[in-house]
Amino acid sequence: MRDKKILFGVCGSIAAFKAAGWVSSLAQEGAQVHVVMTAAATRFVTPLTFSALSGNPAHSELFAAGMEHIALSAAADAVLIAPATAQTIARLAHGLADDLLAASVLACAAPVLICPAMNCRMLAHPATQRNLAVLREYGCRIVEPDSGRLACGEEGTGRLAEWDTVREALLGLLAKQDMAGERVLITAGPTQEPLDPARFLSNRSSGKMGYALARTARRRGAEVTLISGPVALAPPPDMNVIPVRTALEMAEAVSRHATAASIVVKAAAVADFRAAAFSAQKIKKTAADLLLALAANPDILAALGSKRRSGQLLIGFAAESSSHEAEGRRKLLAKNADLIVVNDILGSSTGFEADTNQVTLITRNSSETLELLSKEETADRIWDKALCLLQDRAAVGAENRA
Ligand code: PMT
Repeated sequence: MRDKKILFGVCGSIAAFKAAGWVSSLAQEGAQVHVVMTAAATRFVTPLTFSALSGNPAHSELFAAGMEHIALSAAADAVLIAPATAQTIARLAHGLADDLLAASVLACAAPVLICPAMNCRMLAHPATQRNLAVLREYGCRIVEPDSGRLACGEEGTGRLAEWDTVREALLGLLAKQDMAGERVLITAGPTQEPLDPARFLSNRSSGKMGYALARTARRRGAEVTLISGPVALAPPPDMNVIPVRTALEMAEAVSRHATAASIVVKAAAVADFRAAAFSAQKIKKTAADLLLALAANPDILAALGSKRRSGQLLIGFAAESSSHEAEGRRKLLAKNADLIVVNDILGSSTGFEADTNQVTLITRNSSETLELLSKEETADRIWDKALCLLQDRAAVGAENRA
């Protein structure tokens, strides 16, 4: 979001108070937010609130200050309209320019994201549905409203979508769509290997790295399937999320979805061992030491590497505490991967649980250590590398055919 110029349109709905929080979040992420309010919106939340939260004057008057609508729309990287009422949706669908927001959108060449919020019957009305269809045809992206209890007390579809969903859609509008057409399969998080009804073997993986890969790939246009071990993270929007618990469940889910994938990334921290025998009763505490028999889990990445379909790109991670580069290269070859992402699990700002990571990207003929970055930035750099590898492979293929 940093330095992106967002023209944020707010319409007259009780959900306008949620827009105040969204403007604040965008500003905190470094975006330059310029709020344009309809006259009705100013009845719900004052322009002063939006000015204070965005750090920029909030506008609502079409005839107040010269060519405001042109200046605002020319500068915008994206337009976000939330909440978008039936009235404003109709205005935009008909190309009207009778208030500052409608005129600014009409004059704007940047991508437009519309988040409807209204009573369920207003939303379902053929006029509103037709207007939304027209806006889609014009290239606007619509974030579908949620279902639930509406401000009027009724139950139905029409609630403003959640910020997480809208933020992802906005980032998608701002991102280059260089992964469009790719079908990406990602595993994330730990596995849990039950010992008895109360206990399991697991590890410290939070899922943050794998989820960052999933979100960034989706933003860049890929179709994403995310196979996730048990984590405390919300499922990312707009992708197929498959929850699993054990390594055996993950192996089964991966084998079902891998064939269709053009890129597979194994970011999950799969437990190497499971209990040789699950105890149906809680194992009793005794004075004596307990010896547990463990059975080896299948190596999912190695299995993928041994029978992958041609053209598929295979990316593994390596969680290392020493000999990072050597271990990464050993795993690259042993598991027949195209790229191994090595991360240090001893650092407090890298590897498990941290919001940041510092990784080394190891391929057959290169090794590159990245700087310390957020996990989302790290994920984007991994995708950049993956796309380079695919390009190189396509170039070699073309050369061989010539
Ligand atoms: O989830 P976070 O808290 O954000 O932390 C991120 C992370 C440290 C978990 C992640 O970045 C990471 O390093 N994931 C891989 C952890 C791991 O299992 O490393 P490994 O060196 O043991 O395994 C090497 C590769 O083989 C990995 O791609 C792993 O998914 C795969 N593997 C391992 C064992 C197994 N039985 N099956 C596998 O597929």
